Amino acid sequence: MTSTGVQPKLIIHGGAGSSLQGKGGADSVRRSLYTIVTQIYDLLMDGAPAETAVVRGCQLLEDEPRFNAGTGSVLQSDGQVRMSASLMSGTDQRFSGVINVSRVKNPIRLAEFLQTCPDRILSDKGSAYLLRELQFPDHDPLTDLRLQEWMQERKGNFSRSMAGVVAEDEMASSTAGRGTIGVVVLDRQGHVAVGTSTGGKGFERVGRVSDSAMPAGNYATAEAGVSCTGIGEDIIDECLAARIVVRVTDGADLKTAFVRSLSEAHANQRDLGAIGLDRTGKIAWGKTSEVLLAAYHTGEHLGDTLDMPEGLQIGTAP
Ligand code: GLY
Repeated sequence: MTSTGVQPKLIIHGGAGSSLQGKGGADSVRRSLYTIVTQIYDLLMDGAPAETAVVRGCQLLEDEPRFNAGTGSVLQSDGQVRMSASLMSGTDQRFSGVINVSRVKNPIRLAEFLQTCPDRILSDKGSAYLLRELQFPDHDPLTDLRLQEWMQERKGNFSRSMAGVVAEDEMASSTAGRGTIGVVVLDRQGHVAVGTSTGGKGFERVGRVSDSAMPAGNYATAEAGVSCTGIGEDIIDECLAARIVVRVTDGADLKTAFVRSLSEAHANQRDLGAIGLDRTGKIAWGKTSEVLLAAYHTGEHLGDTLDMPEGLQIGTAP
């Protein structure tokens, strides 16, 4: 507790995948994550509600072209960008989201609007109607690097199963990845909220549905919140976000819930990562993939997960 309420906490991610090749790459990813964590922490210290902070954090990550969400999203097999995003309020235990939406800058803002609607999860056509109804400006999220990546893949007849986790010249050609962005916060009122947004796996079949707009990839109760990244099908098969959060809600501590759930995922040879926090302010992360691009603020210090060794790893911060 602080003199004016609960100590705010947050953790964010910019995806998981195989190794970041260049150290320069890791350093610049770290700088991006720290800049965003600091901005959202300041917002929480100013008293912003958990949902507002999550939406703002997701917007900043969606606007950063190196991450696979919003601007900089990967292309699907037909060369189109289709994005998915969801928001869950832990206090209200309410989920909202959009699936395979196109031509919008911040898909998370649609999820935010849908929080208070009777119909809270929209697929492609419904999302397009909503965009028109809300008069959101038209935005093409395509970047040159993602287009080059797709053209390269097209030459090889889409033999690679996923696009790069981070779009950077020095990495894009050699780094298979599972990009997504996510934000989990605890606000001054002790409320938890979580948001997740993605451009999908990249090169996927038209109509494929991501985990990011499902409780498998983004889930919260009043007790805890978790956002996942990695191969959507693996996350869905483990129902990972809901699995961790339900364990905490049933009485497990956050670290135990992460250890059990990530160990099960590892035994099942899944390729994924997760970040989360609980109502008491404990922060945790875990992965089975080579790297997890996450950063957090404990109220005392900033930290990140970029230097974790390969394979199954779990970490916590107070
Ligand atoms: N986790 C992002 C996706 O597979 O769509």
